[in-house]
Amino acid sequence: MGTREPPRASGLPFVGKTFTYMRDGHLDFLDAVNEECGDIATVKVSAVGTYCILSRPAYFEQVLIEENDSFEKTDDFDVLSGEGVLAVEGDTWRRQRQVLTEFFYPRRMESFATDMARLTERRRDRWEPGEELSLYDSARELTLDILFKTLFDYELELGGDEELRWAAGNLNVLMKDHVWALPDWVPLPARRRYREACEILDAQARHLLDEREERQDLGDDLLSTLVRVRAERDSALTDQEVYDNLRTLFFAGHDTTANLIACALHQLGAHPEVRTQFHEELDSVLGGEVPSPDTVGELEVTDRILDETLRRYPSVNLLPRRATRDTTIGGYLVPEGMRVHLSLWNLHRHPEFWEEPAAWQPSRWETTTPDERQEDFTFLPFLAGPHSCLGRPLAMLEAKIVLATLGQQYWFDPHSELELENAGTARPHDRAPATAIARE
Ligand code: HEM
Repeated sequence: MGTREPPRASGLPFVGKTFTYMRDGHLDFLDAVNEECGDIATVKVSAVGTYCILSRPAYFEQVLIEENDSFEKTDDFDVLSGEGVLAVEGDTWRRQRQVLTEFFYPRRMESFATDMARLTERRRDRWEPGEELSLYDSARELTLDILFKTLFDYELELGGDEELRWAAGNLNVLMKDHVWALPDWVPLPARRRYREACEILDAQARHLLDEREERQDLGDDLLSTLVRVRAERDSALTDQEVYDNLRTLFFAGHDTTANLIACALHQLGAHPEVRTQFHEELDSVLGGEVPSPDTVGELEVTDRILDETLRRYPSVNLLPRRATRDTTIGGYLVPEGMRVHLSLWNLHRHPEFWEEPAAWQPSRWETTTPDERQEDFTFLPFLAGPHSCLGRPLAMLEAKIVLATLGQQYWFDPHSELELENAGTARPHDRAPATAIARE
């Protein structure tokens, strides 16, 4: 067992690095700590206490797989997910994960492909060539349309359903840097907004669940799957678990996918050679047709664009855990009870494992694959191990269909460089303003 404490990042007495964190934001803070201390460091941020940041593949493997039993989820997840799958552990987690997996299997996701393309066209057809828009806001609106359809079989009105859109858009406010870094007793408006958002979404879920239980013709959406499981066996979710999981899925599936789409569109706009390859692929594979589950399988350039975006601009950038017993990581002691933050942000740009890590280069995926990179723990946008992302098939299918549907008519000329800020997920700091350019 190691006895040395991991390198400690410099900071002021009592408050440690709190000011740096609040001033520079979470991503610059991670870079500064990594530069000062390397792949394992302890830092102090007032509301959180002293915790350990990890950025090396071997440390991820240890925490997520080899010594997975020695680490648990932190209580950040309880606030967000209640009794939902993102927060619970043990048998309750296993039961919930099993039920939800029945919904997320890839074949079922494919049944949503037509709706995904149609909802994308619905929005795209309202744009005019030369229109100025925010890639981030547009991607958020669109991913929300798709999420409501896949989870609830509910079609949000274009330009309507304002209350539901507001509620879904406010589920991430607790994870913004200034809210997360301040103690719970500080009465921030964000905390009130979060409670209101939960009430609105729970009420809608309750209403739709009641309605679905009366229906004879159940569909493929998540609520139908849950009602079907309830009728078949008693491992089903309780009402409270259903509400908490629906909120969890909105939180886990909305901004994450929206950021991926917004960042990919931005980078395509900023890299003309990649854009040309992308357009050539769309034209030759789709030939002007709407993308379908069969044809998206052939879109290899599009795959590389998305994988590279997930590497360079990972929307989930940090994963918190807590040590349940004393552990040695990299020869240093991580004591029982200490928080451990796995930094995907630094892992994905680690100079020992990536050439030109800061560059966005989809061509790097011509000589390696996401699976290979997951096996050596250098690329983990959806994590690895038992808690890895359930929504991966939905997110990847959706992002491909949205990119392909928009890319057949437009490309987007960005007005600024892509810089990320943390708001629970890492999003374009200025919402990525761009001009929609009609393709020749
Ligand atoms: C690009 C999009 C996405 C990314 C990058 C992403 C990433 C992640 C990551 C890193 C985790 C692990 C969290 C942790 O253990 O601390 C996770 C978990 C999860 N994600 Fe995703 N996600 C995405 C989209 C989605 C979507 C669309 C859904 C569903 C609608 C979803 C549902 C979930 C769920 C339910 C979990 C918890 C799994 C468990 O703890 O057993 N995700 N995701």
